[in-house]
Amino acid sequence: MLTQTDKANDLAGRFGGESGGEFAPSGVPISGLAQEYGTPFYLYHGEMISERVSRVREALGTEVSYSVKANPSLGVCQLIASEREAGAEVASSGELAVALAAGFEPEDIVFAGPGKTDDELRRAIMESIFAVNVESLNEIDRLARTARGMGKRIGVGLRINPAAQLMGSGMRMGGTVGQFGMDQAELGEAVHRTLSHPELALRGVHVYTATQVFEVGPLLEHCRNILEISQEAADLAGHPLEMIDFGGGFGVPYFEKMTEFDLDGFAEGFRDLLSSYRKDPRLEGCRFLFELGRYLVADAGVYVTRVVDVKETRGKTFVVTDGGMNHHLTATGNMGQVFRKAYPLLNLTRMNGVPEEGVAVAGPCCTPLDTFGSNIPLAAPEAGDLIGVFYSGAYGFSASNLGFLSHPTPAEVLLWRGGAHLLRAGGRPEDVLGGQRELSRPGRESSVPG
Ligand SMILES: Cc1ncc(COP(=O)(O)O)c(C=O)c1O
Repeated sequence: MLTQTDKANDLAGRFGGESGGEFAPSGVPISGLAQEYGTPFYLYHGEMISERVSRVREALGTEVSYSVKANPSLGVCQLIASEREAGAEVASSGELAVALAAGFEPEDIVFAGPGKTDDELRRAIMESIFAVNVESLNEIDRLARTARGMGKRIGVGLRINPAAQLMGSGMRMGGTVGQFGMDQAELGEAVHRTLSHPELALRGVHVYTATQVFEVGPLLEHCRNILEISQEAADLAGHPLEMIDFGGGFGVPYFEKMTEFDLDGFAEGFRDLLSSYRKDPRLEGCRFLFELGRYLVADAGVYVTRVVDVKETRGKTFVVTDGGMNHHLTATGNMGQVFRKAYPLLNLTRMNGVPEEGVAVAGPCCTPLDTFGSNIPLAAPEAGDLIGVFYSGAYGFSASNLGFLSHPTPAEVLLWRGGAHLLRAGGRPEDVLGGQRELSRPGRESSVPG
C-alpha cells in the first residue's frame, strides 16, 4: 500500500521529477516558475491530461465528455477539446461559454444540473447543443416553452435517478432522495411529456449518481441497470435512443489507503456488457458516453504555495503557507469530506530531503479549518520553501471560496509541449475593490479604482 509520500513522489515523477534537489516539472525548476508567476499558483501538466483522456477513450471504446466543473480553466478545456476530440458536460451558462470558447462542438455538449434558469435554457437552445439533460418533469415543460418562444427545437436527455443505489462510491447523488434527476418511476411520464412537445427531440437517458467510485463490480451492475432503463425508455418512446450518458464518477485515490481506480478492469467488463446490448435495435446508432471530471484532470495538477513561517507550539511544528482553503477548499477537507484527511504533499524545494516527523501545514485564513493536514511528513521545511499539494487538477481554483480573507487569487499555469503557459494571471491585493461601489462621502475622493 503506497503512503501519501509515495503517492506524492510518484506524481512528482510523472510531472518530470527533480533537478538539483528541487521539483522540476517538465525540466523547469519550480523556483523559477514561482519567481515568474508568484505564489501561490496552480500548475497543470498538459501531456498528463491529454494522455489520460485518450487512454480512457481507448479503454472504454465510448465517447468521453469532460465535466467542465472539475476544472473550467479555458486553457485546460481547450487542450481537451482540441487535442483529444472529447465532448463537454456543462452545468451552468458560464461553463457553456467556456466550453464553446474552448472549441467544443455544440453537438458534443450536454448541459446537466438542477436549477437551470430560463436564461440558461435559452442559451443552450440558442447554441443548439446536443442535449439538455432535464432534471424534473417541470423542466421538460419549461424547456419546451422556452424553445417554442424561440421558434427552435432542442435535444433532451432524461436524467434518471435509478431506484437502485450504486454501492462502493464516495458522495452519492442518486439512488437516494435528492435534487438530482427524475425518479425511475417517472420515466414513463418523462418520455410521454417530452414526446408531447414538438420542440423537443428525445435523445436518450442520462444517469449520474455518484462520485469517487472505485469498485468495478457495482459500477458494471450500475451500467447494466442504465442500459435496461434506456431500453425501457426506447420502448416507451417507440424509437431508438440517440444517447446513453453513463455518468461515471471514476475515483481518484487522494487519501491514505486508497488505490487507483481499475480502469482496465472496468473497461474490459464494460466492453463485454455493451457488446450484448449494442445489437439491440433500440440502441442502434446510439452515442454512448461517460462524463468524467476529476479522473481526467486531478492527477495533472499541483497547487504550489510558499512557506511563510515555521513555528513550534507545545511540541508541534506548524508550517504556515501563503495559500490555503481560500484557494484550495477541497485539499483542506472543507468540501463535504466526512473525515479530514491529507492530500499527498511534498516540500518541492527539498526533494532529496528525508521527510521529518509529521508536521501541521496550515494556510493563512485565520481559522483552524484552514489546514492541509496535521501530521504530514515533510523534508525540513523552512520559510521560503515551496510546498506542493498534489492531485490538485480538479475542484481546486473554481471550487474554492476565493474571496475569503481577500487574498489575491492564484495564477494558473499550464506546462505544455516543453513550455510554461500562463492560463490565468494571479490577482493583486487591490483587486478586492474591483467591481465594488462605495457609499458616497461628500468631499472625499473615491478609493475604489476604475
Ligand atoms: C452531473 C455530473 N456529471 C459529472 C460530474 C463529475 O464528477 P467527477 O468529477 O467525480 O467525475 C458531476 C460532479 O458533481 C456531476 O454532478
